[in-house]
Amino acid sequence: MTDFGASRVASLYIHVPFCAQKCAYCAFYSEASSGELINRYMAALTRELEIVAGDLKPKTIFFGGGTPSVLNLRQWETILRAMEKLNLLGADEFTIECNPATVSADKAKLLRDFGANRISMGVQSLDEHLLDRLGRIHSREMVFKSFDILRRAGFDNLNLDLMFAIPGQTMESWRATLAEVLAMDSEHLSSYEVIYEDDTPLFAQLKAGEFDVDENLACEMYDELAERATDAGFQQYEVANFARVNSELQTTNAEPPFFACKHNVNYWRGGSFYGLGPSATSYVRGVRTKNWANTQLYCEQLEKGSRAIESYEKLPPLKRAGETAAFGLRMVAGWPFEEFRHTTNFDLRSEWNSEMKQLAGRGWGEVSTDNFRLTKTGLRFADAVAEMFLR
Ligand SMILES: C[S@@+](CC[C@H](N)C(=O)[O-])C[C@H]1O[C@@H](n2cnc3c(N)ncnc32)[C@H](O)[C@@H]1O
Ligand code: SF4
Repeated sequence: MTDFGASRVASLYIHVPFCAQKCAYCAFYSEASSGELINRYMAALTRELEIVAGDLKPKTIFFGGGTPSVLNLRQWETILRAMEKLNLLGADEFTIECNPATVSADKAKLLRDFGANRISMGVQSLDEHLLDRLGRIHSREMVFKSFDILRRAGFDNLNLDLMFAIPGQTMESWRATLAEVLAMDSEHLSSYEVIYEDDTPLFAQLKAGEFDVDENLACEMYDELAERATDAGFQQYEVANFARVNSELQTTNAEPPFFACKHNVNYWRGGSFYGLGPSATSYVRGVRTKNWANTQLYCEQLEKGSRAIESYEKLPPLKRAGETAAFGLRMVAGWPFEEFRHTTNFDLRSEWNSEMKQLAGRGWGEVSTDNFRLTKTGLRFADAVAEMFLR
């Protein structure tokens, strides 16, 4: 284990590649869990943690997946003790993704005791019919029950994930879900339009003509989301992310709101991070690596003592700067020119001047003396904007 001292990486992502059942729309790398493979994965993950621990001093930790909450108490305790031994606990923000069907009071307490302080729960919808349509294993009742369990365990920073433009979803159903979710009073809300990912059952149904995509309705649903969330006291700080405004904890307007997900803000702002586990990506000192998206192979490599890296890429600085520009513009605050220059060594005003002018002309962007940001319309088309900044 090499100790990199002061320049250690402050952000750690851990991918748990297991789910109780695969949802119809999901392309994240995960598979239905089996006890044997989970044990092998945990040993391999511990080995990978040992390899990188000397280069890490996590300020943010994020367990994502897959479904981290499918791990049982004993499995969680094993992982958390291994992290404790390696001095990896104590992050300011420590998030764990959960499925409402796999939350329990014992698990919540254990996670809290080891310093987890934020839970992100996949709600998607509160319409039973749509939950079925999506292949979710949870019911609406489980959402309320799990939320309550997490609050009682002391979690005071909870995120709820929603999806909209689900096949068969009406505006009425979306409004009803939004109203109920906003009334739950979580600190954070993430809401994505359904993405039709290759090789998913939902994509196959779309291709087979079983339903159509109504782009106008999707846009109206997005507007409804932004409006209702704002009315309920949330501040939108990224295309799909909203944080509850807390005037006592707010610092300055230029910074993301207090309850913004600090881990994700680091991605959008082009920071370094380690990603461990199958399929996870790391970005450390200008080098991007990606682990094998295959749990067996991941375990085999680590059993031999090395990280299970499928690809390395040393990004040319301009290419990396273009990606950083594109990612950062997903944030409502846009890019302060000086911060961008400090992060990438490139100046948006010289390298991307014509793109910024073009976007401003179209009403998608706004240039001020010290910053470039997307307008409300621009944010809706952030993916198209991103293409313009890539080099
Ligand atoms: C890893 S899951 C969250 C935790 C847990 N696995 C669960 O689903 O309850 C991450 C989130 O990504 C979103 N998501 C996944 N696939 C998506 C897709 N194809 N389109 C839109 N959102 C998607 C869902 O909202 C989901 O909650
Ligand atoms: S959405 Fe969550 S629970 Fe469903 S398959 Fe994807 S990772 Fe698993």
